[in-house]
This record gives sequence, C-alpha cells and structure tokens, in this order.
Amino acid sequence: MAKREHLIGLLLGAEEDWPTAFEQLLQLVGPITDDKGIVHELRSERLSIEPFNLRQPVRTELVIDRLAHWYYHPREWLKKAALMDDTYLLNSPFTFQSMEKHSAYCALMRLGLKVPDTVLVPYKHPVDNVRWAYTAAKYNQPFDLKAIAGELGYPLYMKPFDGGGWRGVSRVDDERALERAYDASGEMLMHLQATVDYDVFARALSIGPETMVMDFRPEQPMHSRYAVSHDFLSPSAGKQAAAISRIVNAMFGWEFNSAEMLVTGDEVYPIDYANACPDVAVTSLHYYFPWAIKALLRWSAYVLVTGRRSRVDLELHRYFEVADRDDLDAEAKLDAYLAIADEHFETERYWDWCDQHLPHMDRVVLDWVDSPAFETMLEATVRSSYPAPEHDMFLAHFRGLLDLWVRDERARLDGPVRGSR
Ligand SMILES: Nc1ncnc2c1ncn2[C@@H]1O[C@H](COP(=O)(O)OP(=O)(O)OP(=O)(O)O)[C@@H](O)[C@H]1O
Ligand SMILES: [Mg+2]
Repeated sequence: MAKREHLIGLLLGAEEDWPTAFEQLLQLVGPITDDKGIVHELRSERLSIEPFNLRQPVRTELVIDRLAHWYYHPREWLKKAALMDDTYLLNSPFTFQSMEKHSAYCALMRLGLKVPDTVLVPYKHPVDNVRWAYTAAKYNQPFDLKAIAGELGYPLYMKPFDGGGWRGVSRVDDERALERAYDASGEMLMHLQATVDYDVFARALSIGPETMVMDFRPEQPMHSRYAVSHDFLSPSAGKQAAAISRIVNAMFGWEFNSAEMLVTGDEVYPIDYANACPDVAVTSLHYYFPWAIKALLRWSAYVLVTGRRSRVDLELHRYFEVADRDDLDAEAKLDAYLAIADEHFETERYWDWCDQHLPHMDRVVLDWVDSPAFETMLEATVRSSYPAPEHDMFLAHFRGLLDLWVRDERARLDGPVRGSR
C-alpha cells in the first residue's frame, strides 16, 4: 500500500492548550486513506526559531501560524516557504498588509454591506521623520475635527485604523471628549466611526470554509465573553453573519480569522474583520473549543491529503463585478459573493470529503474531550492562566461548560439527524 507522510508546523507564542489538543487529536484521528487508496500519515511539530538559508528546503507542508503577525524572523521564513516551497499557510504573511480594519471596511463597503460611517483623520503627532516639516507645511491641510464628528453624530468611536485588543479605543460623547481622545492618540492613525446601537454582538470564528457564529459579550471578563446560546440571531442575520465572514476571508485569502459584527434585528453591521491571530484559548472559547480544534484539524487534513495549493493572488475583481451590478438586490449579491467564496474554499467538496474520509472524527473529538487527557490539559491551562486562589473556581467554570458541550454533542451524534455542518 502506498504511503505518504505530511508534516504540519505549529508556529506558536505563549499558548500550550490548543497545540496540546491539536497534537493529541491528530494522533487519535490516525492515518487517512484517499480516493486512490494512498495512506496519508499526518504529523505535527512545534517550530523553533533558527537562522535559515533562503535556499534551505522546507519540510513542513502546512503551517498554522500564531506568531508571525508580531515577530518578524518567522514571518520572513513563512514568506520564503510560500514562495519557494508552496507551503500552505494559515495565515499567509502576504495578506498581513491588508489585515487591518481599514482594508476590510473598504472591501465590505464596496460589496454594499452596512459598515458604520467611518472617517480616517491625519495623525495628531506625525511620524518622526526629517522630511515631515516640509511635507506638513506644504500638504497637511488644516481640518475641522469637530465638524467631522458633528456630522457622524455623538456618541462615536475613535479607534486606530489597524487596531486590536482595545488599544486606543474610546467612546466619545461630546466635543471635550473628542479633543481629549485625539490628543491622546499621538502617533496612532485614527478612525472616527458612527456608533451602532445594537442588540447583540456576534463574533464569528472561521477556519477554512468552517464558521462558528457566537454570542459575544465584550463587557464581560475574558472567561465569560462567549455565551453558550444557539439561536441568538434571526435566521436572516445568522445567515448574513456566517456568509460575510466566509466571503471576507476568501476575498483576502485569510484561512484562520475572527470577525465582529453588531446586530439589530436582521441588520448586520461589520466592525472588525481582520484578526490574523484569533484567540482560540480553551479559557475563552470553552464550549466552542472542541469545534475550533476539530475544524483546524479537519481543514489541515483536507488541504494536505487532497494536495490543495496555496494562493497568494487575490481575485477581488470577481467580487467587485458582482457589487457593481444593478440587476441584483442585496440578498442576491450576498449569495453571489458566497458562491465565489465557496468556490475558493471548495466548500462542498470539503464537506463531502470529510464525510467520506473522516467519518470517525466527531467521535474521536467527543471521546477525547471526555477523557482524562483533556482534563490534564484543562487543569494545566487554568493553573498557568489564573492565580492560585482562583484555580478551583475556574476549573469548575470551564469543566461545567465543556461537560455541557459533551452532552450536546453526544445528543447530536446519537440523535436522529447526524452531520457535522
Ligand atoms: N461603531 C461602533 N458602534 C458601537 N460600538 C462599537 C463600535 N466600534 C467599536 N465598538 C465597541 O468597542 C469595542 C472595541 O472596538 P473594536 O472591536 O473595533 O476594537 P478592537 O481594538 O479590535 O477591540 P477587540 O480586540 O476587543 O475586538 C467593541 O467590542 C464594541 O463594543
Ligand atoms: Mg475588535
């Protein structure tokens, strides 16, 4: 019997929980036989940071990256791997430049989606550069910040064009607060954005063609930001939230990303669509953690076994051609964008392939989350994430949520209708 081996590289920061889950599940899932009868063995390895010759061949066929968005040495290694060895990347550094809020806003506006009104203002304190004084004197036009804010209306949000992690975000209620926030922005480049009065905050985590839309409560502490609630959006808003996430990921070539939307009734307002390194910690995802690791594994296996090629070119024009059509309404356009996104992710083929080649996956993940090995991982994560007096409380909290997942998942798999979608 012919055999093929594949190596998945994990490029990591401080996290231990999801890599442990990924490694153990990869072993438990075992070899995968493709349509031609070839047996594929998948292995993973945590990558280290070392000098590399640009001509040195790369052993890893696929890399899940959680580091290169802020650490440049491995970023340059990833670029080399993509260009010289066709290494498949979740995510590719070639998409990092567009991986900020601003580009996603522009693309989504062009698609006709409801991005809140947003204005980019020049730096309060321009970058330190000898050429600046001349350029400023000649080209930096005076502008009326208060008039811009007045047009957007109060309250509004001032936040960095490329922000993340609440850095520099402020809610501005009046002109005094506006001045204070702009003075404090210093060398950050800021958007002013109209406020959306929303009922629910939907956060969607996407891995390849898979998307989980979750009920997010940004005002809560990290461990209870995700509520376990299944039908918290109207059918139309739920469809839009999942579709928009897949569309924007396909457009920019993002494979592993999380998206934030403010929702009122059937209206979905995207506010943040570019999180290159989405949080997948068990201590924040809890109930949704098994799904996330399963999707990471399932998509990686699909990519490697079917030999899916990585792409660094974008085909934005295909989406914009739909956007520019006059004969389609908003819903028809969304369906047309989704069709292009699904072609990009091979969505239908992916799910058929999973049914055929990974029929045991759901059970493997369920049994593992219900096993002592998972308990050990959870305990270690809680011990390293919280102070000692809080260990018991948080262990009980996460154990409760994951027990709930185990019960729901068991009911789903043993119930009359089976399926992983
Ligand atoms: N236009 C808006 N209307 C209403 N609320 C907003 C708006 N923009 C931002 N917010 C609020 O501010 C929070 C932070 O904004 P945003 O997500 O854009 O910044 P961030 O730096 O990416 O933060 P995070 O890492 O928490 O996502 C949001 O979770 C939301 O509660
Ligand atoms: Mg955000």
